[in-house]
Amino acid sequence: MTLRLGDTAPDFEAETTEGKIKFHEWKDGSWAVLFSHPADFTPVCTTELGRVAALKDQFAHRNTKVIGLSVDSIEHHNGWKGDIADVTGHALNFPLIADPDRAVATLYDMIHPNASATATVRSVFIIDANNKVRLTLTYPASTGRNFDELLRVIDSLQLTDKHKVATPVDWKHGDDVIIVPAVSDEDAHKLFPNGFDAKKPYLRLVPDPSA
Ligand code: BEZ
Repeated sequence: MTLRLGDTAPDFEAETTEGKIKFHEWKDGSWAVLFSHPADFTPVCTTELGRVAALKDQFAHRNTKVIGLSVDSIEHHNGWKGDIADVTGHALNFPLIADPDRAVATLYDMIHPNASATATVRSVFIIDANNKVRLTLTYPASTGRNFDELLRVIDSLQLTDKHKVATPVDWKHGDDVIIVPAVSDEDAHKLFPNGFDAKKPYLRLVPDPSA
């Protein structure tokens, strides 16, 4: 099933390194980052899982839970944990789904047969508190992802959900933001009484309202 932005993230039950979960119940009103790995005991995945473990508090600060997936068995996952802690200095501190029958991988279209018939690609789904898909990313097996970028996207999504703004290129929390074009200048003055910097009539900057 191809998932698109705004779709409801499908619910599923799965065995994980933290026990059996029902996805929507586990999320329980939080945001979530669901991301897949080609296989256990692989070098790029080992570095990624350690990095996500290191960033867990950063995700939690954004009301966001993290959950990984690999099509290997729970026994393999548990055997791999020691290597992740050993190599990265960060023990796995979030659930890793075991998906040997590829049920979840199929549900989320994480297997791209022309890349690999059996292994998942590096998929990422950012899912909001209402279980809507807000970002999808697909990386090849050979390229590790940048999880700081995912934190940046969550900051942008959560900010733009609250305020009538969009975030410019390379934006990060605290940088100026853009008033969305649908807001008239008259309304913009009401929403942002300290004024705005109109670089062009359609490009109006204001300080980050969350900073
Ligand atoms: C890795 O996770 O290290 C990896 C997996 C498949 C192909 C290349 C690298």
